[in-house]
Amino acid sequence: MAPGLTPEAEKTLETIVSWFSPILREKRHQKIGRAIDLMMREQGAKEASKDLVVAAARFVLQPIYEPRLKALTGEIPSWRSPSQETMKETHHSLEAYYAAPRLVGRWQFEADPPNKPSREMKVLAFCGSPRLEGNTETLVEEALRGASDVGASTEKIRLAELPIANCCNTFISRDHFIAREILPDLKVDYCVYSRERKDAEHRGICTLQDQMPETYQKIIAADAIIIGFPIYTGWETILLTNFLERWGHYEYCIPEKRPTPGRRGMVICTWGSIETKVYDHIIENIIRKLDARHITVVEVLFACGLTGVLGGLDEEGKALISRYSEEIKKAYLAGRTLVTGERNYG
Ligand SMILES: Cc1cc2nc3c(=O)[nH]c(=O)nc-3n(C[C@H](O)[C@H](O)[C@H](O)COP(=O)(O)O)c2cc1C
Repeated sequence: MAPGLTPEAEKTLETIVSWFSPILREKRHQKIGRAIDLMMREQGAKEASKDLVVAAARFVLQPIYEPRLKALTGEIPSWRSPSQETMKETHHSLEAYYAAPRLVGRWQFEADPPNKPSREMKVLAFCGSPRLEGNTETLVEEALRGASDVGASTEKIRLAELPIANCCNTFISRDHFIAREILPDLKVDYCVYSRERKDAEHRGICTLQDQMPETYQKIIAADAIIIGFPIYTGWETILLTNFLERWGHYEYCIPEKRPTPGRRGMVICTWGSIETKVYDHIIENIIRKLDARHITVVEVLFACGLTGVLGGLDEEGKALISRYSEEIKKAYLAGRTLVTGERNYG
């Protein structure tokens, strides 16, 4: 038995660690163990109870484990919460499908206002769903409408319709001229662009024949960028991954001036599960990727519960979220705030 843990607490810790792949268990054990230690000190406790172990795990683990933790403490009967059971029903009955809850939420964050009036702002939105006019695109449109109503100019690009090539730049290319000095007979493959490059100052032109150069000009000109995407099999869609990777490689290689920091960003993410925090880690990952592109995310909007027998659409193939006017209003307000900085959480 681990020192300082009651037998029940010890069993709880074992159960929590067993949720992870064997190769990760020792790491998770150590992390939660450290949090237990700190919490015991904080509380002056001589022994860690089951509740303290759960509190420590909650502190360390991603929100995706929240339902399982709640089930462990008996807050819910099984880790499939009652609302998740409702969502299960939505796959079997049209009545349950239309009656189920669908939620749109905004992360509460009070960012500094933009440094120019909204009527001078350009908002560029990328929609990363393969489903045109689906739930994600509907929310993106609402956010753009909010921005446009206060004078911003807006444009939406569907990644499903944007011809983006795969960049095979292996990142040896950017330092190729250095590598060639060190190894004159260098055999490593590199892109055409880098072959023309004599030194760091002689940046070339990306030779891939795709829409990235034109899109990049729009990105440079934008004051705010919206990235919308659904969760597919637990992650962002491949449309978004490909685009962000191509954007990153392109930005590194091109001779044009880079965008200056301080541009505003908004992330819109939609999914099927009714749990509101379950994909926070994916959203955080996209925020980090946008940060690397000098875009500071000031708005996060999510929509959940978009699952069931018609896969998040209605019988006419329209986005299910469109039926929830009170919910999609939040996208409109978030779009306004993106360009005005106004406080409108209600
Ligand atoms: C191929 C596919 C995979 C999906 N995977 C997940 C998933 O892993 N988790 C989840 O909560 N929802 C999942 N969903 C549900 C979608 O995220 C949800 O319906 C979303 O609103 C779809 O957005 P769209 O209408 O813009 O395409 C999936 C849907 C599809 C079509």
